[in-house]
Amino acid sequence: MTTLAHSPQISDSSVAPRNSICLKPDEVNSGGLDVDKIRHDFPILGRAVNGNRLVYLDNAATSQKPRAVIDVISRYYERQNANIHRGVHSLSALATEAHENARQSVRQFLNAGDVREIVFVRGATEAINLVAQSYGRTQVGAGDEVLITAMEHHSNIVPWQILCQEKQAHLKVVPINDRGELLLDEFEKLLGPRTKIVAITHVSNALGTINPVRRVIQMAHAINVPVLIDGAQAAPHFSVDVQALDCDFYAFSGHKVYGPTGIGVLYGKAALLEAMPPYQSGGDMIESVTFEKTTYNKLPFKFEAGTPHIDGAIGLHAALEYLNKLDMDKVAAYEYELLAYATEVVAAIPGVRLIGTAHEKAGVLSFVMEGVHPHDIGTILDQQGIAVRTGHHCAQPVMERFGIAATARASFAVYNTKEDVDALVKGIWKVREVFC
Ligand SMILES: Cc1ncc(COP(=O)(O)O)c(C=O)c1O
Repeated sequence: MTTLAHSPQISDSSVAPRNSICLKPDEVNSGGLDVDKIRHDFPILGRAVNGNRLVYLDNAATSQKPRAVIDVISRYYERQNANIHRGVHSLSALATEAHENARQSVRQFLNAGDVREIVFVRGATEAINLVAQSYGRTQVGAGDEVLITAMEHHSNIVPWQILCQEKQAHLKVVPINDRGELLLDEFEKLLGPRTKIVAITHVSNALGTINPVRRVIQMAHAINVPVLIDGAQAAPHFSVDVQALDCDFYAFSGHKVYGPTGIGVLYGKAALLEAMPPYQSGGDMIESVTFEKTTYNKLPFKFEAGTPHIDGAIGLHAALEYLNKLDMDKVAAYEYELLAYATEVVAAIPGVRLIGTAHEKAGVLSFVMEGVHPHDIGTILDQQGIAVRTGHHCAQPVMERFGIAATARASFAVYNTKEDVDALVKGIWKVREVFC
């Protein structure tokens, strides 16, 4: 029987023994969540796809949106729409207040100490680019090193690669084992006096591995190296406390936490953000402009050039409020159970090989099938109304590490159920019927 460590939250110990659990085939404990009610909050889940009930298992790509998010965005355009920060009229004041309340909600969600540390960006990708271009370009020089891991999304590889090329610095990569777990001893060896920043994913989008980021941060801080955490796949699944982690930067995307697309967050420690130059320039990020000299706005506005994604921030606020009401600890516990069940029943299908079998996982079940291309798996599942993602998941080095070109990936959200997993299993058997 396949087991997962019982660790819905970041236990973050790569050394401590973990308790394993074994689920009976018909068990998925909802942990106090009313999942039926939750499903009703997401209008899209009521639709059919290809004549079948929609089974949406592509949440690592983007999650569906609750009515609360959809409604707040309509209401904003019906009642409040105006540009923010610069207006003296009532609508501008209302929109500004709603936008800045959203920033407060993000601060609370991450348990950041100061609202000045919350920068709105387009998503995790832009957050990482901001740090690479602003912090990186000022701090990384010829011969220096940037340390990432072998399980990063392209968004946490390419910005550093571009920086290293420009600065004649070196990109160093911490390897992973066959289960898809970070090799901490290798990390320790690679961390050195030339390391200028560590950038690591909290949860791998291709493997589901939860990284021991707290330990990574402690090790890096021991030699004064700052750490950026790519939280794109963590923020939707368990509570994140940037002060407890003591990370220097934390990035996540709104659309993966049930919010709108085009809005995301960079958390950065105020002292670091203060010292960093602007990333983009234009309106709103300035204090004063003359042709001779420009002085910059205070945090976080220094990093928010131009009209922001106002309705995106307001929608994100609604999404975070929705998650808070559910309780992130309950969400984590329920999704853990669901993933453990899915792992067990999918792994039992003949010819299926799971890619990513770390002891600590969240949200993601990647697999390949003997003799079947993942795209064919995805197509046949889609005919049954089941949405999974197939391909390299913007993590080509992970595919290379496992000697494959692609996987099929089922990824879970709080509205998924045991019935969804059972539909997936039935769908995979159908794939077998067609191809094997
Ligand atoms: C781990 C990880 N990092 C970064 C990203 C990039 O997120 P976005 O495309 O929302 O900027 C993703 C998206 O899938 C991801 O899974």
